[in-house]
Amino acid sequence: MPESYSITIKRFDAQVDTRPYHAVYEVPDDPEFAPMTALKALHWINYHVEPVAYDYNCRRGTCGRCAIMVDDEPRLACLHALTGTHHFAPLTGFPVVRDLVVNKHKAYARFVMSSHSIKTLTPDGVLQPLSGQFWRDKIYPLNACRECMCCYASCHALNVFNKWGRFAGPGALQEIYLRHIDGQDRSDRIEQAVFSGLFECVQCGNCTTNCPALIASSENIKEMMDEAERRGLMPQGEATSYWPVL
Ligand code: FES
Repeated sequence: MPESYSITIKRFDAQVDTRPYHAVYEVPDDPEFAPMTALKALHWINYHVEPVAYDYNCRRGTCGRCAIMVDDEPRLACLHALTGTHHFAPLTGFPVVRDLVVNKHKAYARFVMSSHSIKTLTPDGVLQPLSGQFWRDKIYPLNACRECMCCYASCHALNVFNKWGRFAGPGALQEIYLRHIDGQDRSDRIEQAVFSGLFECVQCGNCTTNCPALIASSENIKEMMDEAERRGLMPQGEATSYWPVL
């Protein structure tokens, strides 16, 4: 372990700054707090140097609030162990509130719009228990989503091709996929996925690679794409804008 960590933070406070700037901090290693994580380093800077704005709650990888960019990759700060020199920045794709705090509202809204609020569960009068294997393999991983938005921050369709207005995003499509594989759900979730911009996905695979919950988002999206293609549900012509971009 190094004796100290060199942390560069991209900072911005709209109240006082005209543009973002970078501040460098030296954080000493302390074996008592090993492993040194990005979140612990932020705590140390906050207590010992100067206030820095960042978000967190659980400190154990379950609430999803501490997601930031570490060396250009979206990571949960509380789980990400540091090795030496690092660059912290706010999560890509979201408006900065202050320093490392971003407003994730536009992605949260897509989760809600894609999920339970439009659920059409109509049991047949007979409850059909899920098999243990189906639960373990399919449902449980999807329920492990922390809504940290690492998938949104790394999505090429959203952040390279700027499809925020046409693509619900990888996380919201997992909500739709969960309903799609639910045997008692009576809605056409493939059609819903197509209208949510399913074919705007460029299959970069970053959502799967960067998911702290190890959800196979890209593979699930591909599965829905394949089924939509089989059913001839490919959108015709230029996609229109469905989603509010804040
Ligand atoms: S603080 Fe909850 S996931 Fe990191």
